[in-house]
Amino acid sequence: MAATDTVIVTRSLTKRYGEAITAVDTLDLEVRRGEVFGFLGPNGAGKTTTLRMLLGLIRPTAGTAIVAGHTPGSPAGLRLIGSLVESPAFYPYLSGRENLKVMADYAGVHHSRIDGALETVDLLPRARDRFATYSMGMKQRLAVAAALIKEPELMILDEPTNGLDPQGVVEMRALVRRLGSGERTVLLSSHLLNEVEQVCDRVAIINHGRLIRRTPRVAPWSGSSATAPSPRWTARCG
Ligand SMILES: Nc1ncnc2c1ncn2[C@@H]1O[C@H](COP(=O)(O)OP(=O)(O)OP(=O)(O)O)[C@@H](O)[C@H]1O
Ligand SMILES: [Mg+2]
Repeated sequence: MAATDTVIVTRSLTKRYGEAITAVDTLDLEVRRGEVFGFLGPNGAGKTTTLRMLLGLIRPTAGTAIVAGHTPGSPAGLRLIGSLVESPAFYPYLSGRENLKVMADYAGVHHSRIDGALETVDLLPRARDRFATYSMGMKQRLAVAAALIKEPELMILDEPTNGLDPQGVVEMRALVRRLGSGERTVLLSSHLLNEVEQVCDRVAIINHGRLIRRTPRVAPWSGSSATAPSPRWTARCG
């Protein structure tokens, strides 16, 4: 595989907190261009810690990562990455569109990209409404739009369906699929097996900071999940 086909590579990526906690333990991960990659694991497995290392928000204790061709946290790399790991703070009394204008200015992005991002997340009809009046699902989708205005080649999403009602979950999953169509790569963390089965092309399962299984391909988006491999928390990489 050509190097450019791999958007994320980690080698023995490790994060320890003191002597007692190894949040991420010698993780080897490869995410290919254009796929929706699921990062599946229970609470405390090390998902968020991994994503924060990939974004350069925290430093690894050991190991390496290359993300979108760059060292995590380098400005050149960050320009290519949109993320929803910690929800951005929005101004409650500004509209969704006005909030995105503030963010576009901050990111040095032209305002002409804003309505396209709002359309992608299905918020154009509510773009003029104040953020404070948005539902939880709409707030989450605005956060995705904020990541999208950079037109990133890689989206890193940490459990974007958390806290949403069933309808919001359905909408967010459909949105993740739309984000992952074409060339864009999506790394999606989740603790829900059925979610990654529905949304992702491939999945890695993490528990206690260790990669315990990679599946080649889970159920196709449009097809049945009956033929999909059935990963279990206890399964081992092999
Ligand atoms: N700043 C920190 N200091 C100490 N321990 C931490 C810190 N951040 C994370 N941890 C620990 O690292 C482990 C992995 O946490 P992490 O948040 O990455 O899990 P997660 O898979 O994202 O879980 P969840 O599904 O609950 O979000 C946990 O044991 C957690 O307590
Ligand atoms: Mg987490």
